[in-house]
Amino acid sequence: MSETVSYKDLGLVNSREIFRKAVVGGYAIPAYNFNNLEQLQAIITACAETRSPVILQISKGARSYANETMLRYMATGAVQMAKEMGADIPIVLHLDHGDSFELCKSCIESGFSSVMIDGSHLPYDENVALTRKVVEYAHQYDVTVEGELGVLAGIEDDVVAEKSTYTQPDEVEDFVKKTGVDSLAISIGTSHGAYKFKLKEGESVPPLRFDILEECEKRIPGFPIVLHGASSVVQAYVALINQYGGKMDGAVGVPEDQLRRAAASSVCKINIDSDGRLAVTAKIREYLANDPGEFDPRKYLGAARKELISLIKHKNVAVLGSAGKA
Ligand code: G3H
Ligand code: 13P
Ligand code: ZN
Repeated sequence: MSETVSYKDLGLVNSREIFRKAVVGGYAIPAYNFNNLEQLQAIITACAETRSPVILQISKGARSYANETMLRYMATGAVQMAKEMGADIPIVLHLDHGDSFELCKSCIESGFSSVMIDGSHLPYDENVALTRKVVEYAHQYDVTVEGELGVLAGIEDDVVAEKSTYTQPDEVEDFVKKTGVDSLAISIGTSHGAYKFKLKEGESVPPLRFDILEECEKRIPGFPIVLHGASSVVQAYVALINQYGGKMDGAVGVPEDQLRRAAASSVCKINIDSDGRLAVTAKIREYLANDPGEFDPRKYLGAARKELISLIKHKNVAVLGSAGKA
């Protein structure tokens, strides 16, 4: 285990104040996952240029891929890079889908300013107990905690599965009170990855369950709500991937107008990972197909990074409404 460090010494902030402003202002803070240098450079460049607060999000898998010490220094570099760009934007370093108290503790010790404890697969009482334990530890260090109620799954589930899958509005008030969480991820029809809805020929994407979102809002007015699985699965990238040797038939995501509607509500954090992955993969495939002799990674990773910057700027400006809110 490497030395303990506080996020405050790294120039990071927790999510409390930016969420409060986002709920009042009717916009959402972007939470972008990153695993490598180019993704982090793109996120910081785009958020600095659009003057958007940002949540840099790291999954358990990303943490073991990139090395926890490396990530701490990358986050410090990201803060400094934004400053040097003349953009003093709030930057949160957040653990995505933490699955144990020990992992959350370890992230807090290595400089994360926010953690998610995802007990959504556990029985309700166990989810409450685990989340509460993480909150009690995290709050000693002024680190904010995201919990989750309801399991993200496909929209094709039958009625019985629907009941146990979507967030049950009657549970949210009790969960928030008992755990002391700072924000709550809910399940209203999104899912992770690039295949969110199974559509038959001629069918369009079904709407998210805004009725469930509204019921949750009524129970916990003004409380920060989080939307996972919120990539739109940009069809231009899917087409490029398929054109240049990939195979991603039937990939589909959440339409932008639905995300805009969510962002205007108490949803104050929108998680995006898959769209970034698609942008990077599409551009690398295109680059190498058009220039098969190129072997300098800066060339094709540079093209991918450029695309990622414009994707993130678009999200901040036109989908989440976070541009100019730093
Ligand atoms: O919600 C999951 C994120 O997209 C991270 O995915 O666990 O493959 O890093 P990962
Ligand atoms: P997507 O797979 O839709 O990008 O969702 C990412 C996410 O929820 C990360 O926690
Ligand atoms: Zn997620």
